[in-house]
Amino acid sequence: MSTEPSSSPPPSEFVRLLRTQRVWDTELPGFTPDTAPAEPLPLFEQWFAEAVAAGQTEPHTMSLATADEEGRPDVRIVMLHGADEEGWHFASHAGSRKGRQLAARPYAALGFYWPVQGRQIRVRGRVTVAPPEVAHADLHARSTGALASALVGRQSEVLGSSEELERASEAAWRRAQEEPGAPAPSWTVYVLAPDEVEFFQGDPHRRHVRLAYHRTKSTWHRELLWP
Ligand SMILES: Cc1cc2nc3c(=O)[nH]c(=O)nc-3n(C[C@H](O)[C@H](O)[C@H](O)COP(=O)(O)O)c2cc1C
Repeated sequence: MSTEPSSSPPPSEFVRLLRTQRVWDTELPGFTPDTAPAEPLPLFEQWFAEAVAAGQTEPHTMSLATADEEGRPDVRIVMLHGADEEGWHFASHAGSRKGRQLAARPYAALGFYWPVQGRQIRVRGRVTVAPPEVAHADLHARSTGALASALVGRQSEVLGSSEELERASEAAWRRAQEEPGAPAPSWTVYVLAPDEVEFFQGDPHRRHVRLAYHRTKSTWHRELLWP
């Protein structure tokens, strides 16, 4: 069989479109790892502030990767609720698919991508559940919509019909408005305590900078990685 390119079928419209896409068609910032702080959290905070200042949309959203009981990976987007000495905080329903996965295997990875600056951050580590009062306070510091959404619950269950959701959502919105302190028992704050945090700065010549932090017993170890 001929493997000449001329004999291969022309690329589909989809593949043609795919090939027209570019990454980092923009001025990228530099990153000098020698001046990076000894710990990853201050650098994360700095890059986050720079992403906001650069006009990056939704820099507080991230991919959350978990694994099921068989070790099969899974991923979805969630919002970052905080990052501090304890770790990176996010919230969800304990009974959701991710909640069940985290109960079975309490390890996860987070991925941030801020294309405006060609930056990616990866965080890996063990996940613990914050006390219920933390989840309650976190939820009630947020919008009525966030409370209504949490009150609907049943996340990741099979939905019978959109009317069913509409009814549950309307009831939840009413309750959230009438009872702003209403508890949403399954709403859970998770804290990922990082063992590894990697900062990636894209470079137009593909000489990307990758700075990886690894937690040791008492401190953090830093090293560069080939891109
Ligand atoms: C921008 C964005 C932000 C989201 N934030 C959250 C969140 O903070 N918590 C959450 O449970 N789901 C959030 N979701 C929905 C999740 O991506 C996912 O659909 C849901 O949590 C169910 O995931 P699971 O079935 O793997 O548990 C968000 C989705 C998007 C697109």
